[in-house]
Amino acid sequence: MEKSIFTVKPIHLEHAPGFREALDAVARERIHLGQTEARSLEWAQDFVATNIKNNHAQFVALNGNEVIGWCDIIPFARLGFRHTGGLGIGVVKSWRGKGVGKALLAEAVGKAVKNGIARIELEVYASNTAAIELYRKNGFVEEGIKRSARFLDEKYEDILMMALLIGTH
Ligand SMILES: CC(C)(COP(=O)(O)OP(=O)(O)OC[C@H]1O[C@@H](n2cnc3c(N)ncnc32)[C@H](O)[C@@H]1OP(=O)(O)O)[C@@H](O)C(=O)NCCC(=O)NCCS
Repeated sequence: MEKSIFTVKPIHLEHAPGFREALDAVARERIHLGQTEARSLEWAQDFVATNIKNNHAQFVALNGNEVIGWCDIIPFARLGFRHTGGLGIGVVKSWRGKGVGKALLAEAVGKAVKNGIARIELEVYASNTAAIELYRKNGFVEEGIKRSARFLDEKYEDILMMALLIGTH
């Protein structure tokens, strides 16, 4: 079987358009993310530039020059919450199930830990088996559920809250 080649790298400003396109494609599936389309290119450039400037964990998966996935763990800004990072991850549809998500998560968690993040949290739709399995396998634990938290395309969806603690308990 032909092996799928991809690399995982810290994001650079030049990846911002590709990051936005990948995010937009996943968002437009209207299933997995909290948004149904990506914001503007200016937003993506600003987000990436801020993350680079602050040394925040943000990685992209690349096939050649094409961005096929991303993962970021961004610390919360408010005093008292800066030990916590919010996690976002996505892989474009044609690349799922090939180890890209696992590789992105490992890099991003590793960098967040190096940066002193002690809690990584996320929200995931209860029907998103692939993501929940990925998180569970990497030590994330379910902390609660928001019932019927989303109503989209005539369907209600529960949201699971999950988190990984690093040395706080
Ligand atoms: C969730 C997501 C990032 C996983 O990335 P991926 O590249 O497909 O996952 P990988 O191939 O690296 O698989 C890693 C683990 O995820 C789990 N997994 C992946 N696909 C799965 C599936 N279809 N069913 C069940 N578990 C699955 C497995 O535990 C797998 O580990 P294994 O290879 O040891 O069995 C990807 O499916 C995705 O982008 N989904 C849409 C966006 C999204 O849901 N983002 C998260 C929002 S909270």
